[in-house]
Amino acid sequence: MHKRFKNPFRPGAGHMPPYLAGREHETKEFGQLLGQDVILSNLVLTGLRGLGKTVLLETFKPLAIQTGWLWAGTDLSESTSISENNMATRLLTDLAIVTSTIVVAVDPSRQIGFGDPPPEPITMNFAFLRSVYESTPGLASDKLKRVLEMVWSHIDALGRKGIIFAYDEAQNLADHAAKDQYPLSLLLDVFQSLQRKGCRYLLALAGLPTLFPKLVEARTFSERMFHVVFLMPLNHAETTEAIRRPIQKDSCPVDFSINSTETIWSITRGYPYFVQYVCREVFDVWVQAMDTDQPIPSVPVAEIIRKLDSDFFAGRWAKATDRQRALLGIIAGLTNCDQEFTVQEIVQDARNVKLPKSFSSSHVNQMLASLSEAGLVYKNRHGKYSFAVPLLGDFIQRQRESSGSSLS
Ligand SMILES: Nc1ncnc2c1ncn2[C@@H]1O[C@H](COP(=O)(O)OP(=O)(O)OP(=O)(O)O)[C@@H](O)[C@H]1O
Ligand SMILES: [Mg+2]
Repeated sequence: MHKRFKNPFRPGAGHMPPYLAGREHETKEFGQLLGQDVILSNLVLTGLRGLGKTVLLETFKPLAIQTGWLWAGTDLSESTSISENNMATRLLTDLAIVTSTIVVAVDPSRQIGFGDPPPEPITMNFAFLRSVYESTPGLASDKLKRVLEMVWSHIDALGRKGIIFAYDEAQNLADHAAKDQYPLSLLLDVFQSLQRKGCRYLLALAGLPTLFPKLVEARTFSERMFHVVFLMPLNHAETTEAIRRPIQKDSCPVDFSINSTETIWSITRGYPYFVQYVCREVFDVWVQAMDTDQPIPSVPVAEIIRKLDSDFFAGRWAKATDRQRALLGIIAGLTNCDQEFTVQEIVQDARNVKLPKSFSSSHVNQMLASLSEAGLVYKNRHGKYSFAVPLLGDFIQRQRESSGSSLS
């Protein structure tokens, strides 16, 4: 009987969870952005790895469509951000998907005579948008604005609320001064200009915490242009829901007791990816125990953490050099390692740890920059650093304990 109840938990990038816990406040904030008559605020949805940015953005889509918005967008790859032309192509491609069925005119070149087939309607498909783009003089921003203004006039006439451009992985956006290419600034300039003219285009960008500082660095007006929603871990009650709701079904052979739920909370501390991961493991262990008529065991904490370490953390850790690991070890020893820390705090603490080579602050600065590139830490707008991977400090401490020494 229980073989028919499949493991419902979904640890995986962008996989919709069986029950999306919490996020009511964030959803309400998005609803407020949708209600704007003149677009003054756009969305930045940000947070550490695995916090649920992608799945939340996905749940925003039907909400927007229900209230009359059109939804365009995709994941932003690094190649989109190579050149202004790539960025323009990306925007036109995504726009064309929602506008390609909208008729703008009837082809005037087709004479209608007796017996002729009916004239072809001209729709705002990609070829049409591209031709308007190409035939507009000026820079890429002039061309894009012209296309988007033209599209807006039709969308508005049809009584649609507006168009949302939703881009995930938007931390990949960048300008390239050395190559004289500014695709990120282009995106920001075009949307700001259109919004000032009253066109209801809304930008919704999701990405790692490096995203918002990048936007502000490219254009200081981004600070006012975006409302930042920073996803936090689920709280205790929400985590309990995320654990229990998916299996509260008659056909489900197992149930998580209060004890087990507490244990899962203490391992995952409400980080959504970890919640899915641990629940999936526990569910499998229990179903297998039932299959072999064994008593249901308690949550095998040590084994699950070991597996999580090798599946989630080890790959990232393996990329760090010995020296970087030594530095990360010092950070993991700071009491505030799960929040923000400064170069000064690291240097100070490094003095207290006996290391073969000491760390100067310029050294630490440089190493933090390369650790940022590797996606292990990030620098916020106030110059403070944080781990970019949830619960990384605990993992480093475990490495330290298992090697029985300092991480020098
Ligand atoms: N509110 C939630 N309740 C329960 N599970 C969730 C919730 N949000 C996300 N998850 C689960 O967490 C995992 C990570 O979600 P998602 O891929 O959306 O995160 P992300 O922030 O986009 O990660 P990344 O930074 O790697 O792109 C998925 O397995 C998803 O099912
Ligand atoms: Mg994602």
